[in-house]
Amino acid sequence: MATAAATRTSNRLEIAPLTINIGAEVSGIDLREDLSDDVIAEVRSALLAHKVIFFRDQDITEDQHIKFARRFGDLEIHPVTPKDQPHQEVFHLKTNPVFRPGSRVGADLWHSDVTWRAEPSLGSVLRARIMPEVGGDTMFADMVAAYEGLSPAMKEWLPTLTAVHDGSVFAALQGKSKESFWEEFPLQRHPVIRTHPETGARALYVNCSFTTHIEGLSDKESAWLLDHLYSQASRPEYQCRFRWKVNSIAFWDNRSCQHYAVADYYPAMRAMERVTVVGDKPYFDPAR
Ligand code: OGA
Ligand code: MN
Repeated sequence: MATAAATRTSNRLEIAPLTINIGAEVSGIDLREDLSDDVIAEVRSALLAHKVIFFRDQDITEDQHIKFARRFGDLEIHPVTPKDQPHQEVFHLKTNPVFRPGSRVGADLWHSDVTWRAEPSLGSVLRARIMPEVGGDTMFADMVAAYEGLSPAMKEWLPTLTAVHDGSVFAALQGKSKESFWEEFPLQRHPVIRTHPETGARALYVNCSFTTHIEGLSDKESAWLLDHLYSQASRPEYQCRFRWKVNSIAFWDNRSCQHYAVADYYPAMRAMERVTVVGDKPYFDPAR
């Protein structure tokens, strides 16, 4: 690795895909450096092409983590972040001490981050601080491939539909009622198929963590359709699985993929830090 102070101007990233559809390991970059606009553009294009990219051995400080993520846009502060935490932009995910085998620890359900916001995040930069010796992988699913794998009739129908998203599961973590959470973060309506603002690709944009229902359908129809779309997204052909080490970093595009933190490491500890880039309002563009 280059020294911490060097500025990288050449463009020499190596990109090794994990699967045909999703995931690539990126090497030849040191995230402690002051990276040039060219290198950032290369990282961005790898992110767009592979939906999630992975970096190894990045022993960065919280400041460097924040600085890197900020090159891709404004940063989000998660509402459950303690107000007295020094770096408000760093979201800490720790093994829940009440975790028991078979119970959920938090992110062990497919989702795209904060789809309950009006402008859900563009991307998340997650760094591993403490990892179990084995276990605690993260899975990623390609929502563009999941959309493309649908039948022509479904591809015609789904873009006409809107889904409702709810983040009030976080109310309890803040010691708040759902009603007061909704005052700050009202239920959001997003298209079931979203057009990626940078690539123009269509992606399936419902997830089983935050989507409550699809508008205009009966409860039974909505549950049936969501169930079908979730099982479509759960096909291994559309997925990759990342095996972390301490100081590995994953940077994913929340507009084109979902992720799932595999909760198979009890009673070991796992601690992660996420810095999240603000995105734009999801839309469907029939012309693209
Ligand atoms: C997240 C998340 C997955 C993991 O940071 O948004 O869902 O594997 N994390 O910790
Ligand atoms: Mn997440």
